[in-house]
Amino acid sequence: MNLKDYIAKVDNYPEEGIIFRDITPLMANGEAFKEATQQIVNYAKELGADVVVGPEARGFIVGCPVAYALEIGFVPVRKKGKLPREIIEVDYSLEYGSNTLTMHKDALIPGQKVLITDDLLATGGTIKATIDLVEALGGVVVGCAFLIELEDLNGRDKIAGYDIKTLMTY
Ligand code: PRP
Ligand code: ADE
Repeated sequence: MNLKDYIAKVDNYPEEGIIFRDITPLMANGEAFKEATQQIVNYAKELGADVVVGPEARGFIVGCPVAYALEIGFVPVRKKGKLPREIIEVDYSLEYGSNTLTMHKDALIPGQKVLITDDLLATGGTIKATIDLVEALGGVVVGCAFLIELEDLNGRDKIAGYDIKTLMTY
C-alpha cells in the first residue's frame, strides 16, 4: 500500500503560497489508517515509550490510536485557553502563523519516556514547542513520529539530536 495515495494536495491553503497536505483521506480509509498507525506503534515499541504526547489537533488523531494499541496513556498539548487546570505554556510559530501551546503542570511523571506524535513536520515550530513543554515537566523525549515531513522547510534542523520517524516525505 502506498500511503501517499491517501494524502490530498491543496494549493494556497490556508494562505497564498502554502501547499497544504491534507491527511483526512488517509484517516477516512480504515486500511490506510491502520497501516500508518501500525508503523508508528512499531517505532514506539522499539523506543520503549511509556506515554504518547501529541499537539492539538492532528497530533491527537495520530497519537491516540498508537497509545490505545500499546495500552499506554495519551497526554494532549493544547492551544491556550483549552486546558482547565494549572498549565505551563510556550509561544511558537509554524508555517502559517503563531500561537501558544500549553500542558497541564501535572501531565507527566518526571522520567517518563515520551513519544511525541503529529501529522506533519513543516518548519518544526510546533514540535520544538512540544518538546520544550515535555522537558519542562521532566519528560524524556525518546522519539518524534510524523505521517509527513516537508523536507524543504528543514524542520529536522530545529530538533537536531532527537530521534525522528516520518512515514512520507514531500
Ligand atoms: C499543523 C500540523 C502540525 C504543524 C506543523 O498544525 O498539524 O502540528 O502545523 O507545522 P510546523 O512544523 O511549521 O510547526 P496546526 O497548527 O495547523 O493545527 P491543527 O492540527 O489544529 O490543524
Ligand atoms: N502544517 C504546517 N504546514 C502544513 C502544510 N503545508 N500542510 C498541512 N499541514 C501543515
